[in-house]
Amino acid sequence: MVSRCQFTNNYHEVTVKAVNIGLIGLGTVGSGTLSVLQRNAEEITRRAGREIRVIGAAVRDVSKPRPVDLDTLMLTQDPFEIVNHPEIQIIVEVMGGETIPLQAVMQALDNGKHVVTANKALIAIHGNEIFESAQERGLMVAFEAAVAGGIPIIKAIREGLSANRIEWLAGIINGTTNYILTQMDEAGCDFGDVLADAQKLGYAEADPTFDIEGIDAAHKLTILASIAFGISLRFSRVHVEGITAITSEDITYARELGYRIKHIGIAKKSGDGVELRVHPALIPKNRLIANVNGVKNAVLVQSDAVGPTLYYGAGAGSEPTASAIVADLIEVVRTITTDPENRVPHLAFQPGAIIDMRILEMEEIETAFYLRMNVINRPGVMASIATIFGHGDISIDSVIQKGQGRPNEDVTIIMLTQTTREGNLLEALGEVEKLETVNGDVVKIRLEPLS
Ligand code: NAP
Ligand code: HSE
Repeated sequence: MVSRCQFTNNYHEVTVKAVNIGLIGLGTVGSGTLSVLQRNAEEITRRAGREIRVIGAAVRDVSKPRPVDLDTLMLTQDPFEIVNHPEIQIIVEVMGGETIPLQAVMQALDNGKHVVTANKALIAIHGNEIFESAQERGLMVAFEAAVAGGIPIIKAIREGLSANRIEWLAGIINGTTNYILTQMDEAGCDFGDVLADAQKLGYAEADPTFDIEGIDAAHKLTILASIAFGISLRFSRVHVEGITAITSEDITYARELGYRIKHIGIAKKSGDGVELRVHPALIPKNRLIANVNGVKNAVLVQSDAVGPTLYYGAGAGSEPTASAIVADLIEVVRTITTDPENRVPHLAFQPGAIIDMRILEMEEIETAFYLRMNVINRPGVMASIATIFGHGDISIDSVIQKGQGRPNEDVTIIMLTQTTREGNLLEALGEVEKLETVNGDVVKIRLEPLS
């Protein structure tokens, strides 16, 4: 088809053919993508140099009402009808899950089609084989929407920071958990109610335990670490903790001490290895990242030449994610005719230059801690805890006792430690929990100064 579009001051007849797209999925992200492509069609054509036209989509239920214009679309329940369609050149996988997307993407590559996906689980777990296949066939697999929703963080690290040696990065990379923690902190809302809201707003994964147990953030961290350090994708080596153990009490105490509790992903080069971890952490309240609230995400990247850079924006939702998908589509369309050898490599580093670095065990990492424990209010209790910490080479930074506590009654002690080896702390806490003056388990949350 020949389309008309305006370039700078002149009207040109664009004689290049439109590029045909097939969507697998037309839910939150798929319908947002179609909507942005339809609404901004002229602007997008001016940027891409060719019209980008969606001609088909696969969905589970073809009769479901959808908030988009489906007039010119072929709808099917079979993703492989899209993947095998002879006129479709680019497949946009926005269905979610692992098995069918993996088969569909591999089949699309076999069929010579480029792929754009928002599926972090797919890339984090199967990316190595997907990129190998794409590389062999000279095809592109673009995945900007897989990390931090609408923030162009993949492009920033892969291209904008390519002069730098990246030392570490830390990010709030799950919108649902950030939304939940913010609502618990600012409005005192109940965890379950806020999660239900996040689901209604289209932020949460099909299985929301992926969000609240940290798995989604671990998928994203796997991808970020790979493009930051030039290492292969190693999802199974990420240490993963979610937010289900975080209580309003800890959020309040953290605030009193000058911190916010955030769920963060950290990838850090450390000695001969790499730390890969996702967990809640106290962040000093004066750090910009501590003030990233609601569904917003932010990624702080520490690099040797430029220093720290911070990327902020909507981490989930229909059109923010569509923004990243459409940007990928435009890039694929622009690049389609270039020599595959001269394209930006999928994982930022040339395929032959990807290395495997040792991923550190959690016992080896060094960080500060927030500790909360219930103890019996009796002389010598603090001394016995301090002695155990002293033997473990753990320095206490500050201690607060909550409540008056009459003699021999329970009181809550909050402690902040200085940076310590995690293995030493776990060993010491094992001993502390055995003291007859300490009731129950000690709550521990890592504290990251991010300086
Ligand atoms: P969603 O709203 O649940 O949409 C999934 C779509 O896939 C629906 O249109 C569904 O059809 C279709 N589908 C599911 N199983 C199918 C099957 N077997 N055959 C054909 N079609 C099928 O999910 P989403 O939130 O858009 O997320 C899609 C992907 O984007 C996921 O990988 C997610 O992790 C990722 N992502 C999401 C966000 C976000 O904010 N939501 C942000 C970044 C990345 P029906 O509509 O008929 O049910
Ligand atoms: N469920 C994800 C989140 C969607 O809440 O961040 C965006 O990747």
